[in-house]
Amino acid sequence: MTEADEHKRAVGFAAVDRYVRSGTCVGLGTGSTARWAVERVGERVARGENIVVVATSAATERQCRELGIPLAALGEREIDVAIDGADEVAADWSLTKGGGGAHFREKAVALAARAFVVIVTAEKLVEKLGAFPTPVEVVPFTLAVVTRAIEIAYPGARVQQRLSRDGTPFVTDNGNALVDCAFGAIDDPAALDAALREIHGVVATGLFPGPLTAAVLVAGGGEVRELLRIASR
Ligand code: A5P
Repeated sequence: MTEADEHKRAVGFAAVDRYVRSGTCVGLGTGSTARWAVERVGERVARGENIVVVATSAATERQCRELGIPLAALGEREIDVAIDGADEVAADWSLTKGGGGAHFREKAVALAARAFVVIVTAEKLVEKLGAFPTPVEVVPFTLAVVTRAIEIAYPGARVQQRLSRDGTPFVTDNGNALVDCAFGAIDDPAALDAALREIHGVVATGLFPGPLTAAVLVAGGGEVRELLRIASR
């Protein structure tokens, strides 16, 4: 395992140990960090604990099934806590998500949970969002007009349709297309998210507003630390 993977495992395990209580339903995210949280929940279920999971993607659902973790659909149970990774965490705790294309369901689960806990490695911490292009999920029928509308509204932004590794258009779990938008530094992520969602055909963006996040756990330098909301880094 690489050092980066060890950090991801440490923060994924720490979040589950700290925030997941037996007898509850939890939301579990998607990606190379969140998969360790799934792994830890799997260990606890195997030890006999009663934990039910709402998965944020087909990939996470598959991992849960492989580990024998009971699943619930969104809305079926109260979600005590949702745990997920992020591509960027800004100083105000706003996030860029969707590097794996799962941000629509991730946001739905985070919004439904009593608390949303973000797990990252230290290099994900930034002052402002924007170095990582903003993923925008788009209904395929509207792809060309949505792309043009974003380019017109944000001159200088680079808007690119996401492709899969084999070069074919990336398709989300919801059957939609994705465009990755490089806007440069984002001053007001909540306003940008709202403006993009005003464009007919946009389903969701990977911008998560700061107040949604209840806690941020960061792995790096051989430890996992929890950020304080007002602390300087
Ligand atoms: C999935 O669509 C994403 O939102 C991920 O949660 C995010 O990209 C973080 O992924 P990694 O932990 O793999 O960096």
